[in-house]
Amino acid sequence: MSEARRHLVIGANGAQGAAVVRRLLADGEHVRGFGRRAGAHLVPGDLADPSTLTAAFAGITHVSAVLPLVFDRETVLTHVRNIVDAAKAAAVTRLVLNTNTPVPRDVTPFAAYETRRAAEDAVRCSGLPVVVLRPTVYLDNLANPVTGRAVVEDGVLAYPLPPDRSVAWISHDDLAAATVAALHRPGIEGAVVRLGGPEAFSGAELAATFGAATGRQVTYLPLEVERFESGLRDVLGEAAAAGVAGIYRWAAQAADPDLFAPDHDEVERVLRVRMHPIATWVAAQRWERWAATAVR
Ligand SMILES: NC(=O)c1ccc[n+]([C@@H]2O[C@H](COP(=O)([O-])OP(=O)(O)OC[C@H]3O[C@@H](n4cnc5c(N)ncnc54)[C@H](OP(=O)(O)O)[C@@H]3O)[C@@H](O)[C@H]2O)c1
Repeated sequence: MSEARRHLVIGANGAQGAAVVRRLLADGEHVRGFGRRAGAHLVPGDLADPSTLTAAFAGITHVSAVLPLVFDRETVLTHVRNIVDAAKAAAVTRLVLNTNTPVPRDVTPFAAYETRRAAEDAVRCSGLPVVVLRPTVYLDNLANPVTGRAVVEDGVLAYPLPPDRSVAWISHDDLAAATVAALHRPGIEGAVVRLGGPEAFSGAELAATFGAATGRQVTYLPLEVERFESGLRDVLGEAAAAGVAGIYRWAAQAADPDLFAPDHDEVERVLRVRMHPIATWVAAQRWERWAATAVR
């Protein structure tokens, strides 16, 4: 820990930002969160309101930014511009942007990718000392009642990715470790890190790790993106559900073969951290808690 470092975590109320906050606190660092709702260690504010960002950035040296579940291009670019302006005014020594998703080589028709490409371009052109992290897909997406119950009750692992799509799944905890390294490692300003775990699995390989962890046969079921989107719509609303579904539509169509399977050696080379194997995360979850008969 350094007495001189003061961190701001934008998106601290979300699962990704909260993992970064936990990790920084565990390391004994000074942390302030930013989000619309109040909370522990949190300064309330809105990314659309520059005055709240100015207040939150007072005295801050290091910033981790997770963009919210918004896919309207103008809104995303306004959020990013407001972050950049506040970071410049505070003269921060490092800004780490989490694009929340990989960024495909070629332009796509999907806002979930293109708004993040535009956000990344804006921070990289800002002149600030920036590191960009482009994570693959979070293992934590699988720790929910619907997925968990299908695993333990039916022996089915369902996710909206084609069975042959290789994915180097990553946990929120490893994202946090990578973010802290990106915040603190000297000399890596300007790096764009394609962040994934140390191994890339097909659907069948992922299901096999669930089988080993739960002691039952588990089969991978590629969920139709339309069905996935309609489930999300009830929880997130139409615009956010359509945005998220776009990620999986592209993955099922034309995405670069290695879009979700980056070279882990590059992660280690730039950040000097090693992500954990998929099986470690799967084995650490209490899958039985999702069983219909479970006492939670
Ligand atoms: N790669 C993957 O596997 C994966 C998985 C999940 C999500 N994602 C992506 O990650 C991004 C974030 O997703 P999420 O589900 O974590 O989103 P989220 O919960 O909507 O956003 C994260 C946090 O940002 C805060 N926030 C939202 N709007 C804000 C605003 N205008 N000003 C200030 N703070 C604001 C929210 O806290 P308050 O309500 O307190 O403001 C929220 O907790 C999305 O782009 C999503 O597609 C990727």
